[in-house]
Amino acid sequence: MRIWQLEGQGKEHLRITEQPRPSPGPGQVLVRAEAVSLNYRDKAIVDGSYPARITFPIVPGSDVAGEVVSVGEGLMRFKVGDRVLSVFKQRWLDGVPNPEANASNLGWPLTGVLAEYVLLDEDGVLAYPAYLTAAQASTLPIAAVTAWVALFKHGQLKPQHTVLVQGTGGVSLFGLQLALAHGARVIAISRSEEKIQRIEQLGASAMINSSVMPNWEEAVRLLTSGEGVDQILEVVGGDSLRHSINAAAWGAHIAIIGFLEGKTSSISLPDLMMKSLKIHGFSVGSRKDTEELLSFLEVHRIEPVIDAVYDFVDLPDALDHLDRGPFGKIVVKLR
Ligand SMILES: NC(=O)c1ccc[n+]([C@@H]2O[C@H](COP(=O)([O-])OP(=O)(O)OC[C@H]3O[C@@H](n4cnc5c(N)ncnc54)[C@H](OP(=O)(O)O)[C@@H]3O)[C@@H](O)[C@H]2O)c1
Repeated sequence: MRIWQLEGQGKEHLRITEQPRPSPGPGQVLVRAEAVSLNYRDKAIVDGSYPARITFPIVPGSDVAGEVVSVGEGLMRFKVGDRVLSVFKQRWLDGVPNPEANASNLGWPLTGVLAEYVLLDEDGVLAYPAYLTAAQASTLPIAAVTAWVALFKHGQLKPQHTVLVQGTGGVSLFGLQLALAHGARVIAISRSEEKIQRIEQLGASAMINSSVMPNWEEAVRLLTSGEGVDQILEVVGGDSLRHSINAAAWGAHIAIIGFLEGKTSSISLPDLMMKSLKIHGFSVGSRKDTEELLSFLEVHRIEPVIDAVYDFVDLPDALDHLDRGPFGKIVVKLR
């Protein structure tokens, strides 16, 4: 079978190589990959900005959907032909995360999914709703689960909430779709006028161009009669957190998700205290979170936004697209 291997830091060290197709042991399933979606994480692992010491070679890629083609001895939960997706943290089933759960991320430190066949633990896969294609299902394990956990688990989303999403990447567009489906109002920020037009078509209640309005919290306050927003998906990081604190309503929840702009931030502690803000950092979600997300998606028939689909051999082009800033998700298809 063909796999993508990263043999050193940088895109120029990506190679397609041949490896024998693995066989599932007890408690494992072999999945024939149909689609792999890319995340900012994959780009960061390839270019060296990911905050971990990586030892090469690795197989990159974390999110896969495909078909079960063989199962290990005694396995009852899945059968050949089942259509499944991967759970990002293979050994985080439920509850609070722990070091073992964190050490079970697909694509590093566990071997990744950019391969024609992927061997996974039965606990690390879930059947996906029949209304989704494999390409759509592959977009869910990191980006959609993260948006779900931010809004519903930590943020306790209510239909009367106003949610702010930053940028138009994978996590943010899932945040927009999930919040709208729950009846909330969504304000979206983007640096691109063209993407602002596209986000309006997805139903955003208001859009702000942050290139034109770097102090975008002023526009947020105008749009919310001076109150601010109830939830913020903070994917930009760095100085953006300061703007988010200014844009937050009293008692608001700010989900610390990303570091597109910077990994450190200087913020006003009195503002946090005075406004009673909840700032919550976390990393993706558990298998249970993924199951809850899948049920919600099925009820609301939410279709993930896929910006582009690339052939397996064109992974470097797909990563370039990710570098330019996607509108939703980038998918690599294998069949
Ligand atoms: N904590 C977690 O569990 C978790 C899970 C998933 C992702 N993340 C992190 O969250 C962030 C977003 O991930 P993603 O997968 O959604 O990314 P993505 O799909 O690559 O999307 C990034 C989008 O953000 C905007 N953007 C890019 N650079 C920016 C910058 N410097 N300042 C402002 N906006 C910028 C762009 O939108 P516009 O062009 O519209 O502005 C771009 O399309 C990343 O840092 C990622 O590592 C964390």
